[in-house]
Amino acid sequence: MENQSEPATQDFVSRFLDPARAGDYAVDADGATLRKRGRADDDLARYGAAEDREQWAEVQAELMEGILERTDAMLEIENVRKAFAGHDALFAWRGPLSGDVLDVGGGWGLFRQWWTARPGETFVVHDPGIERHDAGPYPEQREVYARAFARPLVFVEGVGETLPYRDGSFDTALINASLDHTLDPQRVFREIFRVLKPGGTFLCMEHIEDAQKVNPEHYTVRRRIERVVKDPSRVVGFVRAKMHHDHHMHHFTSGSLGRLAREAGFRQISTEVLDMEHRTIAVESKKPFDAPA
Ligand SMILES: C[S@@+](CC[C@H](N)C(=O)[O-])C[C@H]1O[C@@H](n2cnc3c(N)ncnc32)[C@H](O)[C@@H]1O
Repeated sequence: MENQSEPATQDFVSRFLDPARAGDYAVDADGATLRKRGRADDDLARYGAAEDREQWAEVQAELMEGILERTDAMLEIENVRKAFAGHDALFAWRGPLSGDVLDVGGGWGLFRQWWTARPGETFVVHDPGIERHDAGPYPEQREVYARAFARPLVFVEGVGETLPYRDGSFDTALINASLDHTLDPQRVFREIFRVLKPGGTFLCMEHIEDAQKVNPEHYTVRRRIERVVKDPSRVVGFVRAKMHHDHHMHHFTSGSLGRLAREAGFRQISTEVLDMEHRTIAVESKKPFDAPA
């Protein structure tokens, strides 16, 4: 679909990329894929201990394999539909993502679904998993996220710990189900803070460990039993999840996510439950207007 907001590469480079980092990238013939010269994880060399970086590379390779071979449980169509419904409800309530948007660890750019996509606005997915971008989404996902895939995208290969964008470039930033895959979440939040415009919005959606604190009602013994009686396949899902090798580098709580945001400089931090079943929450915050650009 033709869309006036389709970015011309030169315009994208001059508007968004830090001139000192522009040389790190080669642009594909599609004009909308910026491929790192060298390896994306070279950028992580300055962060964390060597064994953590090794673990990151291993976890990332397993994640990509699970996605490309389609063994990742989140790609099962009923899980795709459930995740869609949770996010659809969130954006119906808070309104769409607007302006120039940066989706860190954004995968296929599914959140274009809930973006204003006005002429002149750009949606950037920044993610080290370029093999997933190259392979493209599955047909069922194209169907569920039809609006997202009809909208333009710039894909930039790279990790969230070091973003190649100018200070104060984006109106909105988001990170969905990806912070737990990063090597250094604090560093990722600081980078997101830097590249947001003053007054910009940051939305972090993540699984948490202490969902019972956010909504104790959902976790009473009686409610748990009721859920299993209603849907006995939940037991199979639970056992499978316990046996499944953990593909995450970190686990968060509602408190730890809020603290990360505050330490990075964000204010007006609020938390909403997204989906109690998958224990996901949305933490929304703002970069203050008086923060340096
Ligand atoms: C579970 S997927 C979520 C994808 C997407 N946000 C979505 O909701 O469809 C996790 C993503 O995090 C990305 N990732 C892993 N390490 C990262 C890092 N250090 N910085 C940014 N993204 C990272 C992976 O490549 C992967 O695409």
